[in-house]
Amino acid sequence: MGDLLKIKGGKPLQGQIKAAGAKNAMTKLLVASLLSDKKCTFHNVPNIGDVEITVNLCREIGSEVQWDKKNHTLEIVTHELKTSYVPQRYSGSNRIPILMIGALMGRTDEDIIVPTLGGDMLGSRPVDLHINALQKLGAHIEYRDMKKEGAYLAHAHHGLKGAVINLNYPSVGATENTILAAVRAKGTTLIRNAAIEPEIIDLILFLQKLGANIMVDVDRTICIQHAHQFHEVEHTIMTDRNEVASYAMCAISTKGRVFIEGAEHLQMIAFLNKIREIGGGFTVKPNGIEFFHNGLLKGGVHIETDVHPGFMTDWQQPFVVLLTQTSGCSIIHETVYENRFGYAATLKEMGADIELFTQCLGGKTCRFAACNHHHSLVVKGPSPLHAKEIAIPDLRAGFAYVMAALLAPEVSTISNVDFLDRGYEDLVGKLTALGADITRVVQPKKHPEKTKTALHHLLAEKSLTPV
Ligand code: EPU
Repeated sequence: MGDLLKIKGGKPLQGQIKAAGAKNAMTKLLVASLLSDKKCTFHNVPNIGDVEITVNLCREIGSEVQWDKKNHTLEIVTHELKTSYVPQRYSGSNRIPILMIGALMGRTDEDIIVPTLGGDMLGSRPVDLHINALQKLGAHIEYRDMKKEGAYLAHAHHGLKGAVINLNYPSVGATENTILAAVRAKGTTLIRNAAIEPEIIDLILFLQKLGANIMVDVDRTICIQHAHQFHEVEHTIMTDRNEVASYAMCAISTKGRVFIEGAEHLQMIAFLNKIREIGGGFTVKPNGIEFFHNGLLKGGVHIETDVHPGFMTDWQQPFVVLLTQTSGCSIIHETVYENRFGYAATLKEMGADIELFTQCLGGKTCRFAACNHHHSLVVKGPSPLHAKEIAIPDLRAGFAYVMAALLAPEVSTISNVDFLDRGYEDLVGKLTALGADITRVVQPKKHPEKTKTALHHLLAEKSLTPV
């Protein structure tokens, strides 16, 4: 059984915290470092589970890593690859292993084996856009379906060659995978309708230092040229805009005041607009942003989650909790994932007035219009929230539950805390520093037994050894 959180809510959060480096940038940069045999030094590295998992994965692939957690710095160098097999135990952990295909293909002639992907259950989460783009660059990729699990087998025995890739949706992961592969593909690659999230720009900045020539055009086209030479890199990870928004919403909803050092204005534009619309307060300062309750919070907003520069899908879960504290009726239309309102049932049990709809509410139709998924939501407030025993289903829903518990005056018990550890550095320490009544109850750890799987047989067939 995993650790538990006990939260007694009802207190306004007050004080100052420092924002961590971005999970969704750091994990990708570790993978990107595998493109070359040069040393990469990172600063502002977040001490979170997903970085830990990715570091362990890189070590298995052959990287030497020195991680100074106290100073948030990390050095990684991969002189040579020990294996190009992503062990099965990593495949259920997050969305990083599939990026190994793009990063390793230009570095090895061996098959790259990536067992079926994990990550939060937010919908079907296919990888067709990754696979199609990599195939266009010359990769040979096949999926082997086995009894208990499946795996992608990829190689580029004849090398990769630049191509024009049209993504039919600006997927973050598919854009990253294609960029990674394109850096070592001969000639020029154009990705049309690419994702341009700030974390992707951070990846591009890193790759430019490493030796790549990458240009982002105004129309979502990214142009990558074959890199011939690599260099040592020193890079500071961008601030985690999800973490900033999460604590900002806690400050405003609990009627408190919190300064978040390191919060970057540029990454928060869409979020700040919505905070202002509901009457929340913020002041942008030279070294961060202060968020505060500014009198009555009003609903009546319409939010459509979208790719950057739109309102992030990762902000919507805590924003719904915030909207339960506003007066009036608001609409959220989730257009990125078809199934990201699973947490609403628990919020309703805590006292929220929420209704889900399969239609696209708010004017614009999205690609889920005719699919019968509950991807629109109406929330009415203000509603007092009450404590509950809650099991976390995924990272962002998990933070929404923490926030709801901070608003409920009784004690809530939250399980599956591992999800929060994946993306929020020192959550208990930061909330305690802000005056929250929160304790982590540590439970004894279970050691899963290693079992022989169908994948082991496939590896044996290909004379590869799982690490
Ligand atoms: N999609 C496809 N085919 C593909 C890839 C994606 O149809 O081949 C669809 C997905 O099913 C989804 C949409 O495209 O409906 C967006 O997926 P995308 O590939 O953009 O997301 P991702 O790369 O898997 C990253 C973040 C998510 C964040 C999304 C959107 C990481 C590790 N994850 O996921 O972050 O929500 O982009 O911004 O970077 C989180 O941090 O909690 C989290 C889930």
